Amino acid sequence: MSSPPFPLRTERLTLRLHEPRDRDALLSYYGDPKVARFLLEGPWDEATTSTKLAERIARTGLDSPARALALVVELEGRVIGDVALWVTDETGAKGEIGWVFHPDAEGHGYATEAAAAVLQLAFERYGLHRVEAQMDARNVGSASLCARIGMLREGLRRRDWWSKGEWTDSLMYAALATDQPRDHGDAIVVSAVTLRDADGRVLTVRKRGTSTFMQPGGKPDPGESPEACALREVREELALDLAPRLLELTGVYRTAAANETGRPLIATVFSHPHLSAESTPDVAPAAEIEEVRWLDPREPMPDDTAPLLRLLLTP
Ligand SMILES: CC(C)(COP(=O)(O)OP(=O)(O)OC[C@H]1O[C@@H](n2cnc3c(N)ncnc32)[C@H](O)[C@@H]1OP(=O)(O)O)[C@@H](O)C(=O)NCCC(=O)NCCS
Repeated sequence: MSSPPFPLRTERLTLRLHEPRDRDALLSYYGDPKVARFLLEGPWDEATTSTKLAERIARTGLDSPARALALVVELEGRVIGDVALWVTDETGAKGEIGWVFHPDAEGHGYATEAAAAVLQLAFERYGLHRVEAQMDARNVGSASLCARIGMLREGLRRRDWWSKGEWTDSLMYAALATDQPRDHGDAIVVSAVTLRDADGRVLTVRKRGTSTFMQPGGKPDPGESPEACALREVREELALDLAPRLLELTGVYRTAAANETGRPLIATVFSHPHLSAESTPDVAPAAEIEEVRWLDPREPMPDDTAPLLRLLLTP
């Protein structure tokens, strides 16, 4: 294995090894409680930053004694975040990836661009067979990033991390070296909501002019968060007002789009207990929805079920 050349350059970014001068930049975002919300550790103070930086300076590659790589991400000479990759097994065939970015840099695809470059490095330069990512199950931003770089959701571990005074669920994502190209290209991005009745049936909808049944949901308006989009779509399509605090992330999935053949779909899927008190409650279609149907996951799946629903409901 030959050491890759650093810095790595992507279209807009430079990824380089950590240096002593990065202390203030790291503290500027790791010290922010909003950034630390879903991290296992609390906000960093100055002493923690010095200790962490010293550890990171030694992480110069999977072939270094640390068996880890820690890169800062620069945009026009300013550090805006960092991406790390480390080996997780004896043979050095498996790794894990993680990322943290400054809130000022969010929303431009920089984390996606940097993480995709490190994932490519993991497979093409370090020859890893599998790369995993795990995150607090409420961390929609991080799960979306996984889906954007082509990592697949593999599961949810219930209450497996003690974090900031509570047991938290973790979402598990992974990519294999043999997976299809990771570029999300012209993917359609949507939010969808799984609403179940008291017997576990799933509410599906069919849009006017289409033949496939899917969960309620749709594309976000510009600047709209996945959660806000999910709530709005359910309000528009079914005239239901869901309580935002009960919306729970199931995961971000990548699959085929139902109504736009040939295009990939990146779907942020939530569940919500709004209809779970009754058996097949009466729900009326609104706006662009022509038909509502309850799907029983214990029955054979009808042919007109959308690919995302199949993925979600197939064990
Ligand atoms: C997780 C984290 C890195 C995600 O940041 P992010 O800004 O959502 O990710 P990106 O930089 O890739 O930007 C993607 C967003 O920019 C938009 N975007 C704009 N231009 C884009 C482009 N050229 N390419 C891709 N996305 C683009 C995307 O649509 C997306 O917006 P959306 O979430 O509203 O759909 C960030 O929230 C973070 O650092 N959080 C705190 C630390 C943390 O929790 N780390 C993970 C621990 S497991």
